[in-house]
Amino acid sequence: MLRVILIAGAGVALLASVGASVQAAAPETIIQARKAKYREIGKAFKSINDEVKKSAPDRGLIGSSASLIAGNLRQVGSLFPAGSGPSSGVRTKALPTIWTKWPEFARLNAAATGEAGKLVLASRGADVAAIAAQARSLGKACQACHQQFRDED
Ligand code: HEC
Repeated sequence: MLRVILIAGAGVALLASVGASVQAAAPETIIQARKAKYREIGKAFKSINDEVKKSAPDRGLIGSSASLIAGNLRQVGSLFPAGSGPSSGVRTKALPTIWTKWPEFARLNAAATGEAGKLVLASRGADVAAIAAQARSLGKACQACHQQFRDED
């Protein structure tokens, strides 16, 4: 009986140490992944802004870029697990308030995703002014989150 308990105890200790090493590796990987997603979003948003300045914007490029942004914003929501903020020791601009005000962060992320979706729809029409206006709305939705939840440069 004692032996069984000892073996079970060793198993628990082993699981605990495996858990700890997995946790130690995770924040770095996760933070890199989410920065990469945001960089893609930034690039796509830049190409949208470059297009809307033109007299005859490439609406196909605007649509595919907006679609990439919507897809990435949806995915990035799962890249903020607890412990992946500045307390992890990894360089990140994610402010700790993301985790204390998660519903607000999630709301702003959903709002930006919605604006990107509206830009996909706008890009299917020929109304260039409407496309440009929707691109500005998307930019405001990015800023609304950055102002509150991203550390300044
Ligand atoms: C709901 C919040 C939120 C929304 C919406 C959002 N971002 Fe961000 N963004 C962040 C946070 C937080 C970071 C910092 C991530 C980190 O450093 O771990 C970030 C980082 C970035 C970065 C820097 C990535 C790097 O290399 O470190 C870029 C570029 C960026 N966002 C662009 C955008 C654009 C463009 C949009 C809109 C189309 C947008 N973001 C929408 C929260 C948001």
